[in-house]
Amino acid sequence: MQSEYQHLIDLNDFPVSWWTKLVDLGVKIKENPQDYAHECDGKIMATLFYEPSTRTQMSFQTAMLRLGGRIIGFDNPANSSVAKGETIKDTTKIVSSYADILVMRHPVAGAAKAASISADCPVINAGDGGHLHPTQTLTDLLTLKIEKKTLCGLTIGLCGDLINGRTVHSLCKALSMFEDNKFIFISTPELRMPAYIKDIITANGSTFEEVDALDEVIGSLDVLYMTRIQQERFASREEYLAQKNTYVLDREKMLLAKKDMIVLHPLPRVDEITVEVDEDSRAMYFTQAKYGVFARMALILTILGENGGSETLKGKVYSGVRCDNPKCITNHEEYLPKSFRFSGDETLLECEYCDERKLI
Ligand code: NCD
Repeated sequence: MQSEYQHLIDLNDFPVSWWTKLVDLGVKIKENPQDYAHECDGKIMATLFYEPSTRTQMSFQTAMLRLGGRIIGFDNPANSSVAKGETIKDTTKIVSSYADILVMRHPVAGAAKAASISADCPVINAGDGGHLHPTQTLTDLLTLKIEKKTLCGLTIGLCGDLINGRTVHSLCKALSMFEDNKFIFISTPELRMPAYIKDIITANGSTFEEVDALDEVIGSLDVLYMTRIQQERFASREEYLAQKNTYVLDREKMLLAKKDMIVLHPLPRVDEITVEVDEDSRAMYFTQAKYGVFARMALILTILGENGGSETLKGKVYSGVRCDNPKCITNHEEYLPKSFRFSGDETLLECEYCDERKLI
């Protein structure tokens, strides 16, 4: 299904050259933001946030305002017609007729993809459940480019809630496209990286290992990406409490790290990094959040400057086949075409919205 507009649902829908150009533009904007102050004069961005957000929403809004554009939207769906049961399709249809670009965050996997099917302007995925968060990844890539001067040859430790953390899913998919990156997944057995992400890493020629203990591997890392345990994505409070506080980065652990390792975190932090680490020059998470504005300015400019649209659904609808993932948007909004692609072999289907696999 072809859309007239260029959407950003998953970075991996684009070639690496597209992201590297975008990151380079982010660097240029950071150096001379005033040069871009009128690039979006007269344009309107709508931010539809169905889930809490501080940085993503405000950095998108700041980015548009710094480009000379204006903003509309909601950050509390209870104050919009969503509370009356309006579907994503209808909300998107209407809001995209008001705005030139639409940014959506939603608690359900595949929601931004669903929005892109009916939108009359470009849609940007600002986080869809535990699935993906491509604009955080652009922020992370820009931070690595500025602070480590490269996107290749890095040993990256990702620590915490790797199963539910959408930021680490998008980041691994992206960084595994660059040469010689090695991933170390640090988590409890319950919170390991999903198999489909590990398969993508391997298919892209990168390597990964999985460990339980942060202090055993911290000394080998160039980048440590800490994450919050995603309380809201657990089935019960007991399950969350069992995982809480497993990994805490403190001054003692930082003593074991390389002098030039950097610590990233998409934020918000709960208790996985102690405040004393903030004073360490290797703690880069506040800078990373600041760079998010430049990354999103570059993204808005790029998306609005594109000619030609995206393919929203590439797969096929199989009669009677539906996604088994209860957290997939196709199980929340019934009208959506239940579209699947083949994953490698002929017996495995992959949901186009949430990437859940299904044997046929
Ligand atoms: C992250 C998110 O929302 O996925 N935050 C962000 O966008 N900066 C990470 C998180 O909530 O833990």
